[in-house]
Amino acid sequence: MELPFAESYKIKMVESLKRSTRQERTKWIKEAGFNLFNLSSDKVFIDLLTDSGTGAMSDKQWSEMMLGDESYAGASSFFKLKAAIKEITGFEYFLPTHQGRAAENVLFSSKIKEGDIIPGNSHFDTTKGHIEFRKAHAVDCTIDEAFNTTLDHPFKGNVDLNKLEEVLKTYPKEKIPLIIVTVTCNSSGGQPVSMENMRDVKKVADKYGIPVFYDSARFAENAYFIKLREKGYEDKTVREIVREMFSYADGMTMSSKKDAIVNMGGFIGFRHEEDYDAASVFNILFEGYLSYGGMSGRDMNALAQGLYEGTEFDYLETRIGQVAYLGKKLKDYGIPIQYPYGGHAIFVDAKKFLPNVAKEEYIAQTLGIELYIEGGVRGVEIGTLLADRDPDTGENRYPDLELLRLAIPRRVYTNNHMDYVAASIINVFDRRDKIKNGYKIVKEAPILRHFTVKLEKV
Ligand code: F0G
Repeated sequence: MELPFAESYKIKMVESLKRSTRQERTKWIKEAGFNLFNLSSDKVFIDLLTDSGTGAMSDKQWSEMMLGDESYAGASSFFKLKAAIKEITGFEYFLPTHQGRAAENVLFSSKIKEGDIIPGNSHFDTTKGHIEFRKAHAVDCTIDEAFNTTLDHPFKGNVDLNKLEEVLKTYPKEKIPLIIVTVTCNSSGGQPVSMENMRDVKKVADKYGIPVFYDSARFAENAYFIKLREKGYEDKTVREIVREMFSYADGMTMSSKKDAIVNMGGFIGFRHEEDYDAASVFNILFEGYLSYGGMSGRDMNALAQGLYEGTEFDYLETRIGQVAYLGKKLKDYGIPIQYPYGGHAIFVDAKKFLPNVAKEEYIAQTLGIELYIEGGVRGVEIGTLLADRDPDTGENRYPDLELLRLAIPRRVYTNNHMDYVAASIINVFDRRDKIKNGYKIVKEAPILRHFTVKLEKV
């Protein structure tokens, strides 16, 4: 008999989960203004809101916490992290930040000014937020295939080189301070970017003299997909692939809360000293001194260890295998999901799931609320609420895709939990014809509104 797949770790510490009734959940979600972010976590049974900062640290990471050096300047923890970043990514210079968006804030403060154009592959919402906050524009150059959820394409995160070159041709070099490639591309469904595409983006960028930065939150998952799907990489280690990926970038921003499996942390990596120098000023202003930048020594230690663990093949096989396990259950039942399965999440195509709900009534949010009521499972809307209003016209932006993201925390849930999630979604699917009305906004913030929006049932 062929031996079945099994997780590459065992469990040393557990945390209890609270069950609730449908009646309770119906009441709680109403009190929360139909915003899943407003629910306290004890009202959630299985929390798939995000894979960010929600992973389980290993015994080795916890041991590293005890070895943290909390010196203000020159802490050993800083040098440990610097060495890990150099070894894993190849970047010589780095600045610690408290999380990914802080890295964006610091880097963009040194690079982006009003009226600038920043092309990339479906920028993440905080990235876009930091661009638009500076009155600059993010231009989405993702390949069209990414927006067809059923199309099987191995690298739906790829940048469309024609779209990119069109942007670089249209605007003067001074207006394009950088290109941002997000690996894996969260907003298009946790989809990877191929090595070939990264190489080609760099070639085009060099032709126009524009630097390339990677938004690298899930760089290791991207590398794992390259190993599995791209010709010529089958026999390379994940770390070799990671090194090659970053060799086509001038720098990176990192939310360490994802692939480095820590609960808080981030950094910026730089190839060029002048970029590091320019950003350093803002790091000291916004984050902290250069050798800690918003992180404690113990957290830098755990992060350094997490970078090694997050780029191990066995870990990634377990991790991405679990996401695919959930994906397959849903696909087999005919639930419309983004295909191929993403690295960190399954994305349910809410427009296809709930064809009777109007786009003005926030389709993916409606599905998220129904799933919560059904089983106490919390996902997150990646749709019209997240897309915010057009900063120029003030109108709702209706993205091509209305998705409900079910993000799987790293090393946290078992496949029994995945079975429970699948059953909850299937139950909502079986009663989808009865779901006709969505929600309307009663209160919203001008930017990143999905975090605080309050809704009312239509
Ligand atoms: N870039 C990407 C691709 C992300 O997915 C995130 C965060 C960030 C940057 C910002 O990093 O949260 O550390 O400030 N994504 C989380 C998510 C919030 O749920 O997908 P952060």
